[in-house]
Amino acid sequence: MKTIIVYGTKYGCTKKCAEILTGYLEGDIDIVRIKNEKIDLEKYDNVIIGGSVYMGKIQKEIMRFCKKYKGKLMNKKVGIFISCYTSNDEEGFMESLFSKELLEHACIVTTVGGEMDYDKMNFVYRKMFQSLKKIDGFNEEFKEPELRILDIKKVAKAINKRASK
Ligand SMILES: Cc1cc2nc3c(=O)[nH]c(=O)nc-3n(C[C@H](O)[C@H](O)[C@H](O)COP(=O)(O)O)c2cc1C
Repeated sequence: MKTIIVYGTKYGCTKKCAEILTGYLEGDIDIVRIKNEKIDLEKYDNVIIGGSVYMGKIQKEIMRFCKKYKGKLMNKKVGIFISCYTSNDEEGFMESLFSKELLEHACIVTTVGGEMDYDKMNFVYRKMFQSLKKIDGFNEEFKEPELRILDIKKVAKAINKRASK
C-alpha cells in the first residue's frame, strides 16, 4: 500500500500534522509540500490532502491540486484534513473549501485543530487578531486552537482500513 500526503502550509502547522500522520499510517508514505509541480498519482493507492485556512480560504496550491487531479482522485482512496481554528461541526465549512464531489468521495474529511503562532505571524496578522479578540462577537466564538492528535489518528485509521471483501 502506497500513500502520498500532499499538503500546503504557511507557518508549518499542517507540515507538523502530516508528519504526525505518517507515524500512524501503514505502508510506504511520501510527503509533498505542494507548489505547482506535477505529481504522478498513478503509483499511489491513497492520497491524503492537508491544508490550512486563512480568511476562510484554503491555500491556492491545494485548490489547484484538487482541480488539476480531480479525475485521478476519484480513482484513489482520499482523505482530507484541515488545520485551522474552526471546529469540526461548523456547518458548511468543508463545503466552502472543497467540491461536493471530492467531499463525497473522500473516506474521511476532518479538521484537526491548529496552532496560532503569534511570534511567527507578520505584524499585520498579529495586530489583526489582537483587534479581533477585542470584538465581542469574535471573542465569544474564538478559541485558541490546539492540535487534536485523536483526529489525526482518525485520518490514518480510515486510510489504513482495508475494503471488506
Ligand atoms: C491571518 C490568519 C487568518 C486565519 N484565518 C482562519 C480562518 O478563516 N478560519 C480558520 O478556521 N482558521 C484560520 N486561521 C488559523 C490557521 O488556519 C491555523 O493557525 C493553522 O493551524 C495554520 O496552519 P499552517 O501553519 O499550516 O498554515 C487563521 C490564521 C491566521 C494567522
